[in-house]
Amino acid sequence: MRKESSIHGQWSSKLVFILAATGSAVGLGNIWRFPYIAGEHGGGAFVLVYLLCILLIGLPIMMAEILIGRRGRQSPINTMTSLAREEGLSRGWGLMGWMGVVAGFLILSYYSVIAGWALSYVFRAGTGSFVGLDVQGVQAMFEGLVADPERLLAWHTVFMCMTLIVVARGVRSGLEQAVKFLMPLLLLMLVLLVGYAMAEGHFMEGLRFMFTPDFSKLSGNSVLVAMGQAFFTLSLGMGAIMIYGSYLSSRASIARTSATVVGADTLVAILAGLAIFPIVFAAGLEPSQGPGLIFISLPLAFAQMPGGVLFGTVFFVLLVVAAWTSSISLMEPAVTYLVENRGMTRVSAATLVAVLSWLLGIGTVLSFNHWSGYTLFDMTFFGAVDYLTSNILLPLGGLLIALFVGWRMTERSVASELDVQRPVLFRTWYYLLRFVAPIGILLVFLRAINVI
Ligand code: TRP
Repeated sequence: MRKESSIHGQWSSKLVFILAATGSAVGLGNIWRFPYIAGEHGGGAFVLVYLLCILLIGLPIMMAEILIGRRGRQSPINTMTSLAREEGLSRGWGLMGWMGVVAGFLILSYYSVIAGWALSYVFRAGTGSFVGLDVQGVQAMFEGLVADPERLLAWHTVFMCMTLIVVARGVRSGLEQAVKFLMPLLLLMLVLLVGYAMAEGHFMEGLRFMFTPDFSKLSGNSVLVAMGQAFFTLSLGMGAIMIYGSYLSSRASIARTSATVVGADTLVAILAGLAIFPIVFAAGLEPSQGPGLIFISLPLAFAQMPGGVLFGTVFFVLLVVAAWTSSISLMEPAVTYLVENRGMTRVSAATLVAVLSWLLGIGTVLSFNHWSGYTLFDMTFFGAVDYLTSNILLPLGGLLIALFVGWRMTERSVASELDVQRPVLFRTWYYLLRFVAPIGILLVFLRAINVI
């Protein structure tokens, strides 16, 4: 008998699922990570590859991941083992769930540190610290923050506790409340910032940078990073969307909800780029300056615009909230596993994951100061954890999801879960999932290691 709901709870409506999944997808990935890596990889061509990956790989895999989650209705690990058993496949598929739990834990460790930057900027904006600053001023402010490990650690701790509190309270009371009205507000703030960038920034230059592809700037590695960003921003490949899918009612349409989430996430990333690059160019800053990009360009805008103290504060509060609704989904897969298999309570499971992730996060804290000289393949500790998770573990997880749903589950099970109404759309999706997505991921991997 198919489970109608998960032991961990269920969303109160389809709309709440859309909001929660959008809350997971929209986060630092869109507003902090997307602009800075697009800047590092030369803009236009990178953005184009990213958009193609979203459409041809991300969307089909999101549907597959929700489908798995809703069918299994357990932690990603147990869902994978039980679905594999149902379809008469190897228990080895459970390893995929494990990989997801590990990836989520690794991402959370640095995600919390960066969200801590945003927290600290809430207070800076609120106390008017940006007012009257010039380019050097905002740069010095950012550098002062990351050079101070104690301050970074303090904010990292605050953010990890915030995540812990929501996850410990559980799906209904914790996750839902946060997303309902704050997500739309974030969108509004971004639109406002784009308006400012249009009026005061070098808007055309920003547009050109983002949308004129120059393929000579696109290395094999850039293609991999663009694909990694597509997975990261959609929260795909590690069981976060799977676990959210497991709280989704059996009646909701997976295709429609996925399309909504993907559309909203992409919109936010593009708006963030449109807000940031014009300001960057107007100030004569480098788009390729790395993880500090938004923490330098946006304060500069807030320093100069009328009402900047208010808008700046609201913006960073919303950024923290966006990060918050994402970080809870990074923790959720590991927590559900500990509750199901180790007999822990939700509270102790969440505490354990938070403490371990917090400890690992210290590595990221130090990688911006004391350890900045220690590098592996030219990457700091933060860079290496980020590269390993986004560019390797997530696409690998996505590949396995595509193979599992596309090739190992019977078409009957797949079609029954999707409740097919328009066969043409189903066939298109199935084709993308079976052929385009896996081959695409493999080609990008091979290209990145210079085999092709
Ligand atoms: N998608 C989120 C962002 O863009 C981050 C995130 C949340 C995530 N859950 C995830 C990334 C799971 C990868 C996997 O900020």
